[in-house]
Amino acid sequence: MKVKATDENIKLAGSIIKKGGLVAFPTETVYGLGADALNSYAVAKIFEVKNRPSFDPLIVHISKIEWLEKLVKKIDARAEKLIRKFWPGPLTLVLLKSNIVPDIVTAGLPTVAVRMPAHPVALALIENAQTPISAPSANPFGYISPTTAEHVEKQLGDKIDLILDGGKCPIGVESTVLSLIDEEPTVLRPGGLPIEEIEKVIGKVKLQRSTDKILSPGQLPKHYAPRTPIKIFSSPDEIKEGDDIGVLLFKKTNREIKAKHVEILSENGDLREAASNLFSALHELDSAGVRIIYAEAIPEVGLGVAIMDRLRKASGQR
Ligand code: TXA
Ligand code: MG
Repeated sequence: MKVKATDENIKLAGSIIKKGGLVAFPTETVYGLGADALNSYAVAKIFEVKNRPSFDPLIVHISKIEWLEKLVKKIDARAEKLIRKFWPGPLTLVLLKSNIVPDIVTAGLPTVAVRMPAHPVALALIENAQTPISAPSANPFGYISPTTAEHVEKQLGDKIDLILDGGKCPIGVESTVLSLIDEEPTVLRPGGLPIEEIEKVIGKVKLQRSTDKILSPGQLPKHYAPRTPIKIFSSPDEIKEGDDIGVLLFKKTNREIKAKHVEILSENGDLREAASNLFSALHELDSAGVRIIYAEAIPEVGLGVAIMDRLRKASGQR
């Protein structure tokens, strides 16, 4: 059932989580599919509903710092600086887990991923549930992440207890996942917080390439994928035009492209706007009944790194 995220419904959602149920809720990045992170049985339902391989660990969402102190062994100086600057916000930190975090949440890893989302509905839900909430994106495994409550309803509506509708997610790509386990901080998944911003606070950060050893299953080569094949192009000359193709443009172009369905991420080529429209545009194109989707390559700076990462994964390309 999809309901508006009113105070009353958030309260109801909190009680569902407390009782071990599943609630989809908005965050500033994408919609999450939440369960009580300290209840293994409830967390198991997430894997079942998403059809998610059990080796893929989940992010734990908190509403206040006191929870982080309980979930991890140690918060070092780098973590402290980043938290002060970027929480609540689209930055997930991977740290050594404490004993209270169930193994199913971390897929047996000794580490846990934690973030404090910057969305009033998400924060209020966690407060009402009085427990940290583990939540992957609310989509079937490997499919496009949801940025509206309608996306969630279409994909998982009959499988979860409640969907809190808080409108469109403002950022539109998942959080940046940063591991602080080693001396060298490592981005495991580029996302809503640009790497450049992180480097301003803690200095040089390594970006784990998806060709490297898979540390984070968000790095599986084919992920975030629509059912229609995707091909990335740099110049429109590479498109085989026709009334059976879909086109995903970064920005507006004067050139006529013959296609069944065209989506433009940002008329003026604004990366932030493009990121916020990415998954919606892919959903639209995927239901447009086209043979193939041609997606324009995007400059790989700032949020462009996360957008290109998702496009490459959607196309099955590394
Ligand atoms: O923006 C987001 O992060 C959204 C919203 C709902 O918060 N959540 C999200 O969750 O994207 P999910 O499960 O789709 O992606 C979590 C990513 C995966 O790539 C997972 O492998 C990685 O985080 N991850 C989680 N725990 C980890 C750990 N202990 N070590 C390494 N990677 C971890
Ligand atoms: Mg996901």
